[in-house]
Amino acid sequence: MRSAPIPALLLTARLIGAQPTHAANHTGAFCLEIPKTASGASIEHDPSFASFSFEPAFWVEFFGNSSTPNQLAFNLLNRIVDHGGQPTIRPGGITMDSMIFNVSAGDPVRTTNLKGGVYRTTVGPAYYESWSNFPDGTKFVSTLNFGNDSLDIARDMAVASVKYASNDSISFFELGNEPTNYPSSRWKNSTRAYVQEWQNWTAQIDAAVNSTLGNDAALDFGRERWWASSATTDQSGLEVRPAALIPAGIDSNNQVADYSIHSYPFSTCDPARAVLATTQNILNQTELERYADEEIYPSAKAALDAGSRWIIGEFNSISCSGNPNVSDTFAQALWVIQSELIYAARNASAVYLHQGAALVFQSSQQVNSAGQDGSPGYSTYDMFYPRDSDKRGPARVLPSFSSQLFMAEAFAMPNTRIRQIETPLGVDKDYFSAYAFYAKNKLNKLAIVNSKPYYANSTSDFSVALDISSYAHPKKGTRAWLKRLTAPHVDEGNANRTTWAGQSFPQGNVVGDLAVEEVGHDGIVHVRGSEAVLVFFNKRDVSMGAC
Ligand SMILES: *[C@@H]1O[C@H](CO)[C@@H](O)[C@H](O)[C@H]1NC(C)=O
Ligand SMILES: *[C@@H]1O[C@H](CO)[C@@H](O)[C@H](O)[C@H]1NC(C)=O
Ligand SMILES: *[C@@H]1O[C@H](CO)[C@@H](O)[C@H](O)[C@H]1NC(C)=O
Ligand SMILES: *[C@@H]1O[C@H](CO)[C@@H](O)[C@H](O)[C@H]1NC(C)=O
Ligand SMILES: *[C@@H]1O[C@H](CO)[C@@H](O)[C@H](O)[C@H]1NC(C)=O
Ligand SMILES: *[C@@H]1O[C@H](CO)[C@@H](O)[C@H](O)[C@H]1NC(C)=O
Ligand SMILES: *[C@@H]1O[C@H](CO)[C@@H](O)[C@H](O)[C@H]1NC(C)=O
Ligand SMILES: *[C@@H]1O[C@H](CO)[C@@H](O)[C@H](O)[C@H]1NC(C)=O
Ligand SMILES: *[C@@H]1O[C@H](CO)[C@@H](O)[C@H](O)[C@H]1NC(C)=O
Ligand SMILES: *[C@@H]1O[C@H](CO)[C@@H](O)[C@H](O)[C@H]1NC(C)=O
Ligand SMILES: *[C@@H]1O[C@H](CO)[C@@H](O)[C@H](O)[C@H]1NC(C)=O
Ligand SMILES: *[C@@H]1O[C@H](CO)[C@@H](O)[C@H](O)[C@H]1NC(C)=O
Repeated sequence: MRSAPIPALLLTARLIGAQPTHAANHTGAFCLEIPKTASGASIEHDPSFASFSFEPAFWVEFFGNSSTPNQLAFNLLNRIVDHGGQPTIRPGGITMDSMIFNVSAGDPVRTTNLKGGVYRTTVGPAYYESWSNFPDGTKFVSTLNFGNDSLDIARDMAVASVKYASNDSISFFELGNEPTNYPSSRWKNSTRAYVQEWQNWTAQIDAAVNSTLGNDAALDFGRERWWASSATTDQSGLEVRPAALIPAGIDSNNQVADYSIHSYPFSTCDPARAVLATTQNILNQTELERYADEEIYPSAKAALDAGSRWIIGEFNSISCSGNPNVSDTFAQALWVIQSELIYAARNASAVYLHQGAALVFQSSQQVNSAGQDGSPGYSTYDMFYPRDSDKRGPARVLPSFSSQLFMAEAFAMPNTRIRQIETPLGVDKDYFSAYAFYAKNKLNKLAIVNSKPYYANSTSDFSVALDISSYAHPKKGTRAWLKRLTAPHVDEGNANRTTWAGQSFPQGNVVGDLAVEEVGHDGIVHVRGSEAVLVFFNKRDVSMGAC
């Protein structure tokens, strides 16, 4: 452990080597070149950009029921809303494909084997009624079972959702999760066969939903109400990614609202991939961008070229429920910010961060498992453990929750556009990213992420000093403030020691005083290894979440 702080100048010098060509000057700070207008920046984003997907089999564990909501979960969602976010909720994932509505049933009930493998989840009206516990204005994706190959099951779920959920709370329907991984006997690897069945079912479901809603409400809902694709990047033999579905005519009836793609750059589904699911790798910005550009973007581009929106309909860092001691630490908070900003800059309209528990049938060689007696083994990439469990210990918030407050404030202003700022020469590209945010064509915020893993035994704190004096200089009448996301080290596992602007949220309620830093006369911002900051150029935006 280091005993005395090392001056920033020395640290920077160590990072950049002997001859810093692009460091600003004697301060040793690097200049960020930030275009002052939004020209060439992303599409407009809104406060629902950072949304969520929750595995529906574990709905009651996460959210309770209408009369006894899980206070921890709703505290957290309310904090996100206080800070300017408005997440849409997708109760979706693998278990939506064995979910059944029964009008005589109540809260969701899982049918499982002794090891916790989920064969089916039965829901009644109470499931949809419990959606009204969410913060005012929360929108939902009504997800439908395609896996059981029963139109009746899918249609009944759609009709029940519009009947029992509060009016106007459903924004989209989604038929099936990750069809890439269905038994290949279903469509025999034929994209055309998939498209025919999808169009046939969605037309019949639209007709049933319209007749439940009545003409006016159906018209309000609109025709473009479906997510399409929901594929993974796996090469399974069935090509149903947007790049294949669009030319196959999936939207010939103008029903598609969003093209959904699932993103999991790392995995603990098998031992070979598990060894790669390390802190050093998940925080590697170069690798995250490579995955986004090579695996995800071709489908995104197909959607954008067709004039449609695209979304990450489900994602997290490490598939098969994360990697203990990696995704349940502060590293996951940095990963969430890096990943959500990568997709925002690539014009995704929203990203749905997945939360759930180990799914025993997903892989026989996965690292994670359910608890003894088949009780839920909550995913270690979750931002909170919703209940006490023998597998994960007490119900609690995890360090990654703090990243949601960062993202909520980053996109609190509707119609925010963003762009990535070039990493200054001499700064480690593998562990650095910066983005400019624009509102009404003016520079409004700046996000800086120094994702270099910083441990108790690190010989440097990897601080980077950035000169933003061209954009914030009191003498020129411009000022800037910043909020810092930090923890003692990258592997911090306790949310009590993870702070956003000086505050932590151990039970979803704020602890500590708000600490906003003002950028000083030198115009220099210091960002330690394993830290992220959000710089505000407008003072009134800083008070978000202060009350
Ligand atoms: C809601 O959950 C609580 C706590 O588990 C339970 O006691 C109650 O019976 C449930 N309510 C309904 C209507 O099922
Ligand atoms: C619905 O639930 C009721 C009560 O548990 C049961 O009797 C009935 O068989 C179920 N219906 C279907 C179609 O499973
Ligand atoms: C739906 O499919 C699952 C998985 O194949 C199966 O276990 C379950 O029994 C099916 N449910 C119905 C109602 O057909
Ligand atoms: C939705 O609106 C309809 C028509 O106004 C009303 O009959 C129904 O009760 C409402 N549903 C809910 C869940 O509020
Ligand atoms: C859907 O397919 C069924 C069976 O092939 C057919 O009878 C029906 O007409 C089709 N419906 C639509 C709306 O395409
Ligand atoms: C459902 O309603 C929408 C909005 O009125 C309409 O555009 C669409 O054609 C309808 N679909 C069916 C199958 O009735
Ligand atoms: C589909 O493609 C996969 C991968 O190429 C292959 O293993 C599988 O046998 C194919 N299935 C059918 C029904 O052709
Ligand atoms: C980061 O990822 C890139 C691309 O996969 C790789 O070339 C590079 O070696 C990685 N850097 C580190 C420090 O592991
Ligand atoms: C995680 O770290 C703790 C504390 O260092 C250790 O006791 C535990 O065995 C680790 N768990 C795994 C799955 O590596
Ligand atoms: C530093 O600490 C980390 C996390 O505890 C550990 O994985 C790593 O091996 C340590 N490095 C050295 C050089 O001891
Ligand atoms: C975090 O702090 C709260 C009190 O604010 C305490 O109840 C809880 O036990 C602490 N959690 C951990 C994991 O230290
Ligand atoms: C050099 O540093 C000074 C003081 O921090 C700053 O005002 C100036 O803009 C910097 N020069 C360049 C070229 O960035």
